[in-house]
Amino acid sequence: MTRHLLDVSDLSRDELEAVMELAGDEYPPHVLAGKGVALIFQKPSARTRNSSEVAVFQLGGHPVSIRDEEVGLDSRESAEDVARTLAQYHGAIGARVLDHQVLVRMAAVSGVPVINLLSDQAHPLQAIADVLTLRSHWGGSLGGRRVAWVGDANNVARSLALACALAGVEEFAIASPAGYGLDEVDVKAISALGAKVVQSLVPAQAAEGADAVFTDVWVSMGQEAEAAKRAEVFRPYQVGEQLMAVAAPGAVFLHCLPAHRGQEVTAGVIDGPASLVWPEAANRLRAMRGLLLFLFGHR
Ligand code: CP
Ligand code: NVA
Repeated sequence: MTRHLLDVSDLSRDELEAVMELAGDEYPPHVLAGKGVALIFQKPSARTRNSSEVAVFQLGGHPVSIRDEEVGLDSRESAEDVARTLAQYHGAIGARVLDHQVLVRMAAVSGVPVINLLSDQAHPLQAIADVLTLRSHWGGSLGGRRVAWVGDANNVARSLALACALAGVEEFAIASPAGYGLDEVDVKAISALGAKVVQSLVPAQAAEGADAVFTDVWVSMGQEAEAAKRAEVFRPYQVGEQLMAVAAPGAVFLHCLPAHRGQEVTAGVIDGPASLVWPEAANRLRAMRGLLLFLFGHR
């Protein structure tokens, strides 16, 4: 059966572990020799496109990045027909989409793996990179750790919570404005993987005693029409020095980037000593490499 990665929970605990092990292979075998990998983008990208292209290259394959205007998912032809077509030439199809259901429909008809490069619901490669970053900073397992998220319970937050739970984090504490938190289905899915989920409206409650504090933009791609309202609602959710001071001693700060200094995070925090954002960005390449090695048989 063709394996897909639409969210990180498509991997079992052991499979995520295997992907993370493989991610550390700095001299990987050319498991993609003679193969192409199509990378479709309905939204802009710096990290995802570049880390994916380089990962494919390092595994001996040929990446083809495609802006949606070229293939026209559901405008020029159906997303299913785009997937069926690209599967004739490529070993895998990555796609960054506005609507997660488009990925689900592509995976349903594709004979090659479909990889989520970010949707409105999930960002699994970011989550794998985030867990890799925490593991490498802490020198091993995430068992017993408390991870905090402050801000929108968005695509990045959901996938991170699932990955943290799979990787053994004890507690995922999240503070979001009313109406912007995790829904019951998400909480159940994360709890079912073994992490305790603590939701609140108060940033300091989530950050208190946390070993890592994460945030993300207040306005995700595709939500631009809500920008003014979101700027107002999220203002009390900025991660600044005072908030980091209530976290555990030695707590680290992470952000998937792109970041807006002065909005969701202060420059002092993101550019300060607690910040792991550059190793985190670097780990996007390892995450994609580990996933492709896993999918293409180097297990
Ligand atoms: N973090 C992340 O996915 O960055 P890009 O949107 O630049 O790919
Ligand atoms: N939540 C953000 C993440 C960007 C990498 C977005 O979807 O725009």
